[in-house]
Amino acid sequence: MNILIIGSGAREHAMAWAVLRNAKVSKVFVAPGNGGTAMMGDRVVNVPVKATDVDALLELVDREQIELTIVGPEQPLEVGVVNRFRSAGKRVVGPTMEASRLETSKVFAKDFMRRQGIPTAEYRVFREYADAKTYLESCGSFPQVIKASGLCAGKGVVVAMTREESLEAIHEFFENRIFGDAADEVVIEGFLKGQEASVFALTDGRDYRLFLSAQDHKRIGEGDTGKNTGGMGAYTPAPIVTPEVMQKVEERIIRPTLDGMKAEGYPYTGFLYVGLMIDGVEPSVVEFNARLGDPETQVVLPMLKSDFVDALMASVDGGLDTVPFEMHAGAGATVVMASAGYPDAYETGREVSIDPSVADVEGLMVFHAGTKQDGERLVTSGGRVLSVTALGGNLREALDRAYAGIGMIRFEGACYRRDIGAKAL
Ligand code: AMP
Ligand code: GLY
Repeated sequence: MNILIIGSGAREHAMAWAVLRNAKVSKVFVAPGNGGTAMMGDRVVNVPVKATDVDALLELVDREQIELTIVGPEQPLEVGVVNRFRSAGKRVVGPTMEASRLETSKVFAKDFMRRQGIPTAEYRVFREYADAKTYLESCGSFPQVIKASGLCAGKGVVVAMTREESLEAIHEFFENRIFGDAADEVVIEGFLKGQEASVFALTDGRDYRLFLSAQDHKRIGEGDTGKNTGGMGAYTPAPIVTPEVMQKVEERIIRPTLDGMKAEGYPYTGFLYVGLMIDGVEPSVVEFNARLGDPETQVVLPMLKSDFVDALMASVDGGLDTVPFEMHAGAGATVVMASAGYPDAYETGREVSIDPSVADVEGLMVFHAGTKQDGERLVTSGGRVLSVTALGGNLREALDRAYAGIGMIRFEGACYRRDIGAKAL
């Protein structure tokens, strides 16, 4: 069987690694892939097709007789890749454009949660700068959280500690249009206290199966300081998501989300990422994503013990409720190595050297994000460069292995956080 993975990050490298473990998989195409997916051997091929070029993707699927397509990032979902694939009779894992609005429109997601009684922060929606300004000027309490409704690569949220900061944020959104159309609608919501964690489901619209919970590290600096990034590391499982919390997440969030989306006419299929704030043992939704997380996938997928492809096929063809979906015991950790300067401007083209003996370290995997092949060399080509992942009997062991892996990798200006997972130890 041939498989297509859409995307180019470490998440997609981890997906390629996971599907290759199934012996029935003959070829994996990654569009467009990266330097890591280029070096996975004969069974994996990068194809220079953009993740949002649906015509070219469909052509590829026909040409290479691809039986299953997995959508990694959100942009192809927003342009309707799943709708187009389904109309063409192709097997694809992901939500339709309409169902993806749980991620691509924060206004849709908040209104949906309000309609369905799903726990989330109180909020208001604004379409005019003046109205948002009047509201914030009269607001009795801070922090307030200001969110651009549309996709902003994870950068469209400002947690404003003071009125001044909140006014500055809406000025940037509405007047300076730093996110363009993505901030035509702005959600202003109350501040949730607690600890963040994420839960991931694979669903066929009716049944769902759960991966382990995870926690990522969004800030660039140690101790969760400095600018927000795409994610500097993650670990799984998240101890804060106890069985009691997970049960509440299932009953109050996942079940009503799937039932509600179906009832409203947009059955939700594929991966559902639930970003949670957990206050004591009470979970509420910070955000939904219509895909798996990056870097969370790099730890959550290696922890899947049963076959990924069989589960994906069942999610499309039926039988998701009976297919094995088992996790390894122990824990997983991933540490992101980034280019100097990230998340601001950074340099690329730095040679990456990876000690070949990393392959011999049990439980260690180096997933690539911003790398590319340049002749014989491997060079940096993005902000987040590598996601160094390890499994272990417990989190301490997984972290030690991941950091040992980092010691075997070199590129000029490499930056990484030394405190990934520390708060869970
Ligand atoms: P989002 O893109 O909606 O996940 O927001 C990005 C980050 O902002 C989250 O991971 C949280 O750390 C923070 N955040 C978002 N909404 C809230 C909220 N209502 N209360 C507290 N923190 C929030
Ligand atoms: N790690 C957060 C995300 O993938 O959106």
